[in-house]
Amino acid sequence: MMKRFAARITFRSSAWVALLALATLAGCKQNAPPVPGLKATAAGTAIVESSGGHQVGVTGTALSDPLVVQVNDDQGTAVPGALVEFHGPAGVSFDPAAMITDSSGQATTSVTLGSIAGRYQLSAVTPGKSRPVTLDIVATALGYQQRLGSILADKHCNRCHDPESSPQRVSNYDNLEVKPHPFTEGNTLNKMSDADLTSIILHGGPALNRSALMPSYGNTLSAADVRALIAYTRAVADPPYQPAGTVYARK
Ligand code: HEC
Repeated sequence: MMKRFAARITFRSSAWVALLALATLAGCKQNAPPVPGLKATAAGTAIVESSGGHQVGVTGTALSDPLVVQVNDDQGTAVPGALVEFHGPAGVSFDPAAMITDSSGQATTSVTLGSIAGRYQLSAVTPGKSRPVTLDIVATALGYQQRLGSILADKHCNRCHDPESSPQRVSNYDNLEVKPHPFTEGNTLNKMSDADLTSIILHGGPALNRSALMPSYGNTLSAADVRALIAYTRAVADPPYQPAGTVYARK
């Protein structure tokens, strides 16, 4: 009796994991039920991103900035009073998930990412005049190791690799004669193997016949730190990093 019970529990949890994985892969764009209390007074013909796209957050937590989209008409003029619904894969939540655009034609929501690390395809949909119009938005959820890598990058690397200054850190990028790439630059970083990344981080630019302006971190970072940094750069690469030999299922 106990044994059968245990077996059933195992089956059920593995079925859930499979379902979750499927939902994540498929993007799971189920239509939200009609929203009670929200009444659109206008409709646009386009929906565009105002801010908050391409954010990088941590699994299971809210993105730091709100996601703001704008509904426009044919002339590109903002449309107040239009309905906008936000959708995402299983595990992602929006607060609110639907709303009416404000006087500037914008809809603002707060996004909480799911518990699986990776790239999340989100969308904002407005009913439109004749057919619904959709805007796709990407967000990335970092897992534990990738999160560690992002902290290390902030501490050691971003003052050179990130052209933008932040309140905590002044960017040194403009002063560098040879320009490093931001870690999101998939076109450059995706072509570098893990071994090459490891050696340029541990031994500096000259290890790969590059500029000595790229310092060596062999005395500062542990092997685990370097792995975390690589995991982080792979996670935020745009276009996405696809390791050689991995076969991706087609939609
Ligand atoms: C003092 C500035 C500086 C710091 C700090 C720095 N780098 Fe660099 N890095 C550079 C420069 C300059 C290059 C370009 C070298 C070239 O192309 O000849 C570079 C290149 C690289 C490259 C090769 C890809 C590219 O951007 O061209 C990687 C990978 C890299 N750095 C990783 C890191 C990591 C990881 C850290 C932190 C642990 C770090 N760097 C910290 C200046 C810096």
